[in-house]
Amino acid sequence: MSNKESLTIRRPDDWHIHLRDGAMLEAALPYTARQFGRAIVMPNLAPPVTGSQAAAAYRERIYAALPDGLKFEPLMTAYLTDKSDANDLAQGFKHGVFTAAKLYPAGATTNSDSGVTDIANIHGVLEKMEEIGMPLLVHGEVTDPDIDIFDREHVFIHRVMEPTLNRFQGLKVVFEHITTAAAVDFVRTQGPRVGATITVHHLMINRSDIFRGGIRPHMYCLPVAKREQHRLALREAATSGEAHFFLGTDTAPHTVSDKESACGCAGIFSAPAALELYAQVFDEERALDQFEAFASLNGPAFYGLEPNGETVTLKREDWVVPESVTVADGSAVKPFMAGETLSWRLV
Ligand code: NCD
Ligand code: ZN
Repeated sequence: MSNKESLTIRRPDDWHIHLRDGAMLEAALPYTARQFGRAIVMPNLAPPVTGSQAAAAYRERIYAALPDGLKFEPLMTAYLTDKSDANDLAQGFKHGVFTAAKLYPAGATTNSDSGVTDIANIHGVLEKMEEIGMPLLVHGEVTDPDIDIFDREHVFIHRVMEPTLNRFQGLKVVFEHITTAAAVDFVRTQGPRVGATITVHHLMINRSDIFRGGIRPHMYCLPVAKREQHRLALREAATSGEAHFFLGTDTAPHTVSDKESACGCAGIFSAPAALELYAQVFDEERALDQFEAFASLNGPAFYGLEPNGETVTLKREDWVVPESVTVADGSAVKPFMAGETLSWRLV
């Protein structure tokens, strides 16, 4: 830990979030907007946000749910399917509705049933995206049931990521929420057109934590946390300051009853304390001097955007993460690290 008592950085952005819709959107959005200037909004609603009209309407609902006085810009994404319309994506990108498109291999995660069943089915779309400079965001896990869940990201690199990057040499790609040393190494072998987001929970927990003293559904997400050696590799990458790596929480709220269930949903709700938790990790790694690059500069540089103009300040000060967040429909969501005392606080 450093002796620093406060840290001021450019306002950060979150390059991977799930905001949901309706009452959950209203409950979740203020936490993200309090910290981040912009966020890449994932399109895995039910039904998914596949077209530019649906994305524009979703963006309006997000703005409508934004509390007065908070400035926040949602950056919308298209959910790719076997039948995606390349022209609609290109029009949406041109008119600033879409910032990127998201590849969910069908069946890989929450609300991915309409995802892509074979990457060959979207080669035409990828060609168009390469041509217009529209980034492809990838949930990098194979869905082959014969592949062990802890190996799905590693196998995806060789089966899908590498061949796709070779085929589309100009396509910009974000390897989302990386969880393995293999993904860190792979991204480092690529040029600046390949980036990777790293969540705060993958920097803080390993797979044993999910089973510490009993099964802990609020630590379950996809890709699932891996062995300790992978967590350490992610911490090294995130705190390196290298341009490839940037902040993406993958905050993914599910109600307590959907999590604490015989078949609990994947997703960790880290938004209530995300920036503070990342700061704690950087502090523990004695890398607070790299925090602004990871949180506020590398992401915009990858996306070809300016960093935010304003700044935020974090102070070394204890506070306790809320036990629970109430949703207007009467349900509740449990934040990541609920009830834990954190050592950094966003002013
Ligand atoms: C996400 C969700 O709940 O939408 N869940 C998760 O575990 N991360 C989907 C995703 O990003 O995989
Ligand atoms: Zn996600």
